[in-house]
Amino acid sequence: MTVIQILKKEHYLILQTVDLLARSRDYLEKGVIVSSEFYEKAMRFCHDFADRFHHYKEEFLLFGLLAHKKEGRLDAVMGTLRYQHERCSQCVTEIENVLKTDRKYDEMTVTFLLENLSVYVSLLRRHIYLENTVFFPMADRSLTDEEKDSLSDQFAAEEARLDLQGSVSEENRKIIIELEDILTKGKSDD
Ligand SMILES: [Fe+2]
Ligand SMILES: [Fe+2]
Repeated sequence: MTVIQILKKEHYLILQTVDLLARSRDYLEKGVIVSSEFYEKAMRFCHDFADRFHHYKEEFLLFGLLAHKKEGRLDAVMGTLRYQHERCSQCVTEIENVLKTDRKYDEMTVTFLLENLSVYVSLLRRHIYLENTVFFPMADRSLTDEEKDSLSDQFAAEEARLDLQGSVSEENRKIIIELEDILTKGKSDD
C-alpha cells in the first residue's frame, strides 16, 4: 500500500467517527441525551488517532517533504490544511473540557457540545474531501518513487514509536463498532 493509500484508508475510519458524531449532534438537537461515555471514547479516538497519529504524519512527514520540494509554492494550501487540523484539535479539547465539568447536560453544556461538534464535523468533512480529491492526487503526482518509499518507512517508524504496529486499523475498527453500539443504545443514565 502506498503512503497516500494508507492516509486515505485512515480517512475512511475518521469519517466513520465523524458520521457518528454528526448523528449524536442530531440527537442533542432533538433533546435526546447522548451518553458521556460515547463522547469520552469518541474524543479519545479523535485525539489519539486523528490528531496525534494521522494529522502528525500528514503535517510533519508529508507536508514537510512537499514544502521542501515545492519551495513554498504549496504554502497557502498547506497553511489552510494545517489551520483546519488546528481548529479540529481545538474542538476536541473544548469537548473534552465540557465533559470534565460536573454540570452534566444543562443547556450550556448542550450548547458547548453543539458548537464544537458542528465545527468539527463540518471542517473535518471538508478537510478530508480536499485532501482526497485535490491535495493527495497532487502529492501522488509530485513525489518520486524513492520519496514515497522513504515516507513509507517514516510512517512505519511512527507506528512503531507509538507502539501501534500492525494494529492501527483493527483496533480502531473495534472502537468505531463500540461507539456505534453506545450511540444506538440511546439515552444515557446521566
Ligand atoms: Fe489532514
Ligand atoms: Fe488527512
